[in-house]
Amino acid sequence: MSMREDQHFQRRFDHRIWLRLLRRAREFRGTMAILAVVMILVGAADALFPLLNGIAVDRFVETGSIQGVESLAIVYAGLAFLQAFLVWALIALAGRMETGLMYRFRQDTFAHLQTLSIGYFDRTPVGWLMSRLTSDIQRLGETVAWGLVDIVWGVAMMAGIAVAMLFVHAQLAVLVLTVVPPLALVSWFFQRRILGAQRSVRRLNSEVSAAFSEGIAGAVTSKTLVREAENLREFSALTGRMRAASVRAAVFSALYMPVVLLLGSVGTSIALVAGGVRLSEGSVTIGVIVAFVGYTVQFFEPVREVARVLTELQAAQSAAERIAALLDTPPAITDRREVEDAFGTILEPHRDRWPRCHGAIRFDEVNFAYPDGEAVLDHFDLDVAAGESIALVGETGAGKSTIVNLVARFYEPTAGRILIDGADIRDRSQSWMHSQLGYVLQTPQLFAGSVAENIAFGQPEADRSAVEEAARMVDAHAMITALPGGYDHELGEGGSGLSTGQKQLLSFARAILADPRIFILDEATSSIDTDTELRIQRAIRTMLRGRTSFVIAHRLSTVRDVDRILVLEHGAIVESGSHHDLLAREGRYAALYRESMR
Ligand SMILES: Nc1ncnc2c1ncn2[C@@H]1O[C@H](COP(=O)(O)OP(=O)(O)OP(=O)(O)O)[C@@H](O)[C@H]1O
Ligand SMILES: [Mg+2]
Repeated sequence: MSMREDQHFQRRFDHRIWLRLLRRAREFRGTMAILAVVMILVGAADALFPLLNGIAVDRFVETGSIQGVESLAIVYAGLAFLQAFLVWALIALAGRMETGLMYRFRQDTFAHLQTLSIGYFDRTPVGWLMSRLTSDIQRLGETVAWGLVDIVWGVAMMAGIAVAMLFVHAQLAVLVLTVVPPLALVSWFFQRRILGAQRSVRRLNSEVSAAFSEGIAGAVTSKTLVREAENLREFSALTGRMRAASVRAAVFSALYMPVVLLLGSVGTSIALVAGGVRLSEGSVTIGVIVAFVGYTVQFFEPVREVARVLTELQAAQSAAERIAALLDTPPAITDRREVEDAFGTILEPHRDRWPRCHGAIRFDEVNFAYPDGEAVLDHFDLDVAAGESIALVGETGAGKSTIVNLVARFYEPTAGRILIDGADIRDRSQSWMHSQLGYVLQTPQLFAGSVAENIAFGQPEADRSAVEEAARMVDAHAMITALPGGYDHELGEGGSGLSTGQKQLLSFARAILADPRIFILDEATSSIDTDTELRIQRAIRTMLRGRTSFVIAHRLSTVRDVDRILVLEHGAIVESGSHHDLLAREGRYAALYRESMR
């Protein structure tokens, strides 16, 4: 996902996107309906107050009598209490809907992410996903819940006032309402410009942030290339443009308000002048004029609110589009219907019906290319017996990780088949396959939590003694007990606080605790100290015992113990055999090996 694409804002308001998202929020339909009714009542109550004022003037001020004032006072007080109650209900309901909507969207997006395949995460930057899951969802919740409140309330109030005015004095009402068309025009004109300027500000803002992080992350490079002055010049130009756009937005916002107020005053003047003429003719009472003045003042209050919400909805539309797109991304790899019936789904597997796995794996004429990539494998054949250990060696980009990604069914062949225990991998469910796998990644993935929790990540039911035994098997026990809290030592996010070698030992312990039939190791290229390296080699030897294994090793010292070494070049096997055979052959492997021993 490129920056540009991310910054792409649709200019027109598109109600279909909103409807699509609201359809996911079906459970709030009841709340929304109640909220709408409450807001219409609040708007109607707002429209009643000037009417009561007018009645009060005609009945009591004009006549100078206070006879019957109690009943009006009671109605007035009753209305005021009712409105206070309604406003309370409105805020409570809208607040509940806001949090409810955010909960629903978070839940849905997270659940959906669990079903997407690795390919999606390869393509999609983590930062992009994170901002979808946090700021976009927050924005949507706020805009939908409060925007809905403001719009329905504003429209109800304006409609209520228009109806009340027509009811009180139709002729006068029509005169006063002539300011509405220019008002609509002015609002449309200004809001468009405000929105446009705000968009530029946001776009420039993300460019400024990017420039900041590049400036910080690239500090060393910049310094050594003596780019400081150039960097500063570029940055000044960028922030200058941002300032101009911000000023534009502020100027338009600042102009819009007085223009609306001015039109409101025009409305009030019309009421006063036209009402005054009719008053002198005796065709209206003072009360009518009082009511009209109240209405014209009130009428313009929601205009700005409604205009603001429409702008916000339009601005939030890009967030809505991105969330909708995320929720609508189909998983690239799905289990067939029959497979799902037999094996269960990712979130609800039928483990009791799963067949046992022996771990024989065969690539049968497999072709593979990454989405919009060149072919990596072409008619690739490989037969691995159950329990056999295989090492994949070769230069960077040779296709080593690709082969194990296919075994793990993170991707599917574009042609040909992969068989596991003689059955097509697509005839088994992804969860079945993944539960047979122990995968130690090139970059060990640990999580915030204790060491023990990290080891038991895939087997939450494992007790402490099982965790310790797993750690002992891979020679990690001593390292763990040397940590300040031992097995209860808390790791930071991503396992921060440990060295790469330590992280790897923990991920070995995690893999061996799961006791998988198939073990995959994509070894880290980063160098570790010799002591840890020896430990890791012992751990690998333990892992390989009795398991079908694929070891991708960059340190060739690691691969001496495997049953068969495959040397890959451009996705093809160019040499294969045991360490000794291959050394004796004096070919590619022997050269690589000598190179790595130097
Ligand atoms: N996610 C991806 N999307 C597109 N192309 C990819 C992707 N991953 C790898 N490739 C391409 O596929 C080819 C094989 O890559 P692969 O990762 O399998 O190599 P490798 O042997 O594991 O290399 P290394 O030793 O650097 O890990 C390379 O040309 C690479 O550019
Ligand atoms: Mg690789």
